[in-house]
Amino acid sequence: MDNPSFDLVVIGAGPGGYTAAIRASQLGMKVACVEKEDALGGTCLRVGCIPSKALLDSSHLFYETQHAFAGHGIKLGSVALDLPTMLSRKDKVVAGLTSGVAGLFRKNKVEDVRGMARILSPAKVEVKSSQGIRELNTKKILIASGSEPIPLPGLPFDGKFILSSTEALSLPEVPKRLLVIGGGAIGLEMGSVWSRLGSEVLVVEFLDRLVPAMDVELTTALRKSLEKQGMRFQFKAKAESAKIIGNKVIVQVASETEKTAVECDKVLVAVGRRPFLSGLGAKEAGVEIDPKGRIVVDAHFCTRVPGIYAIGDVIAGPMLAHKASEEGVVAVERMAGVAGHVNYLGIPNVVYTHPEVAAVGLTEEEAKAQGHEVRIGKFPFLATGRARALGDTEGFVKMVGDAKTDRVLGVHIIGPRASDLIAEAVLSIELAASTEDIARASHAHPTLAEALKEAALAVDKRTLNI
Ligand code: NAI
Repeated sequence: MDNPSFDLVVIGAGPGGYTAAIRASQLGMKVACVEKEDALGGTCLRVGCIPSKALLDSSHLFYETQHAFAGHGIKLGSVALDLPTMLSRKDKVVAGLTSGVAGLFRKNKVEDVRGMARILSPAKVEVKSSQGIRELNTKKILIASGSEPIPLPGLPFDGKFILSSTEALSLPEVPKRLLVIGGGAIGLEMGSVWSRLGSEVLVVEFLDRLVPAMDVELTTALRKSLEKQGMRFQFKAKAESAKIIGNKVIVQVASETEKTAVECDKVLVAVGRRPFLSGLGAKEAGVEIDPKGRIVVDAHFCTRVPGIYAIGDVIAGPMLAHKASEEGVVAVERMAGVAGHVNYLGIPNVVYTHPEVAAVGLTEEEAKAQGHEVRIGKFPFLATGRARALGDTEGFVKMVGDAKTDRVLGVHIIGPRASDLIAEAVLSIELAASTEDIARASHAHPTLAEALKEAALAVDKRTLNI
């Protein structure tokens, strides 16, 4: 086979890699992007963010038909679940987006190379596929190979009873009892999907609360909401081992005081993800890996080996698609000598439960720990006309302002469409806005976004609608 030459070879076509490849091409580089899977888009598009959101949206509608429609004056006969159609709709959403990435590569003249990449040197990447072995010569390499689920010792994934998020997206029938290990984003999102579709869901969480990285008030409110929806939680507990007997799984769960045997039909292990570097040859090429298995990079996303760069889930920081994309763009801009910058304080974090939870910037605790004197403003969705019209009034906005400068330090939202509402807060952090700026900005009435304006007014104790 030929040995083509590139300015940049990107390894991995997830949101980090594909976005970096497109931006590099815009900047005039000759780019190839190597992907080992059949479809482009990485974990996010194939087996992560997108399929989970498709199922969350479908299962939410299913839940609403039974619990909310009557209140709107819509009477239905009996509501039945057609799980195969729900799953194939999810697959269609995924296929549309992954093939869209291939289209973006064609449009942007990114060479779409399929196969398993291995770094032979900072100037050579080997690609192995069913078509054979190919070598790509390159000036620079960007590692964007993503992450994989962490298995639990004692509960190894088997894909049938002990599942990772990937299998939990395609269960052919609703499990009667689902045990979820880990009360983070994946555990709560996939737990919500199957709970809404009829499973009895128990979440076992090691710490004393859900989504530990988020504001305590939000996660406490989230727990109460999810309990109302029927999910159960066991905190300060961990799963130690599992035994499969017939079609059942018996899991030994240990808390501080006791050990119990929990019987269920499926177990979802969602205790975090780890960088995926197998077979990549990064370590052999001299790239430094930290004790947590992450590639060490400098402020330019360059590894210890000149010419080899890394972004996204393989480096430190939150494992989020949008964080990886921002880093990918900035990494190639720096390679091209263009000024680029990732503002990590402005990276939002969202959990797509119902209500949704979304946050950006510092929590109240973090702000205080960093020495800020803070002013807090809170506003409940119940006091907004739009939430009432929607019949979706749970939750609130909490704004953390600096008492001296009035600068917005953090915004934390639990409520309807928090995932979309957080964008205004992200912009306020990006533009170093004050809470007064948000309080003075006109927000269309009636909208959910008015809760942000009112929370900003609440910082100065001058709310108008409560
Ligand atoms: P996570 O790190 O968000 O949460 C894992 C949870 O499991 C933590 O609360 C942890 O305390 C708990 N845990 C760890 N070991 C345990 C044990 N032995 N027994 C019981 N609990 C245990 O990890 P998750 O949910 O697997 O997600 C992986 C990554 O993917 C995260 O970085 C997450 O942010 C990202 N993600 C983001 C989503 C989003 O933005 N909506 C959706 C899904 C995943």
